[in-house]
Amino acid sequence: MSATPGENGLYGAAPREQEDQPLRPTDLSELLKEGTKESHEKAENTKFVKDFLKGRIKRELFKLATGALYYTYSALEEELDRNKGNPAITALYFPQELHRAEALKKDVAYFYGEDWEDTIQCSEAAQAYVDRIHHLGRHKPELLVAHAYTRYMGDLSGGQVLKKVAQRALHLPSTGEGIQFYLFDNVTNAQQFKQLYRARLNTLELSDEAKKSIVEEANKAFQFNMNVFEELDKIGATIPDEPQEDGLPVHDGKGDTRKCPYYAAKGECAVASGCPLHAAMALTGRPEVKAMLAAFAAAIVATIAWYLM
Ligand code: HEM
Repeated sequence: MSATPGENGLYGAAPREQEDQPLRPTDLSELLKEGTKESHEKAENTKFVKDFLKGRIKRELFKLATGALYYTYSALEEELDRNKGNPAITALYFPQELHRAEALKKDVAYFYGEDWEDTIQCSEAAQAYVDRIHHLGRHKPELLVAHAYTRYMGDLSGGQVLKKVAQRALHLPSTGEGIQFYLFDNVTNAQQFKQLYRARLNTLELSDEAKKSIVEEANKAFQFNMNVFEELDKIGATIPDEPQEDGLPVHDGKGDTRKCPYYAAKGECAVASGCPLHAAMALTGRPEVKAMLAAFAAAIVATIAWYLM
């Protein structure tokens, strides 16, 4: 596939020699990795992210998070498109491989319905993030590098795990509806692509001062993301719990699990699910069925004993 001006070809066809260069501490990729370490740790430890990884995500919250991502990526990619002729952006411009706005449109249509454009709203925290991206796109385009790095490198790092967690916890179809955001169809090897992206970051001709500003902006990008997570958490606290398949509450083996509403609900669901195996498994857990099975087993043993005598 040929690349149009200001657009990289599919990364398989991109020059490879830059990737093999040894890294120096003054390389932008290294400065970004080191300079955002603390922010990364904070982001990993937010309640929203930790709960998500455990499969404790409510469908309504996932829908809102998808909406926030839709606004964020629409703004980011609008500004990357607008500035693709800027040398700082050109080297990192990979619309075919990375851009997420089109995938997110499909996801919001799945969650909000076909009239999603009339119902979806940009939250306060997402709007602040979007405003910052547009401001940079118009006044300091080279700082968009920080926002592209923070989101795309993060998505390529944890996307596959998060996709599976969301599919399982929210019972999303295995055919991919609702999780298009996590599917990078044009990136066959995420690790290799990240290497190329890092190499491209290091080819940017930037002063030390400019590199410092990009690292500072990347920390801001992390903070914008954490603000969105925090806002979602607050909303999540007001949404009633939904029964979930994953993230079983941990029982210590003591006490009676039948008194746990979650386990009780799971029993009911299994019977209602229509699967004979699940229904049988659930039924055998009930005390009245256990008693019947014990009586039945005792009758068989008694019959065999009588026959043998
Ligand atoms: C529990 C949540 C998270 C986990 C477990 C996680 C894990 C990781 C791991 C293992 C890497 C290294 C990948 C590699 O070097 O190939 C990575 C890189 C990265 N992550 Fe995360 N991450 C999480 C959340 C986030 C969030 C919320 C963001 C930003 C919004 C983010 C942004 C990044 C970025 C920018 C990188 C690239 C670092 C670099 O190599 O320069 N991560 N993450």
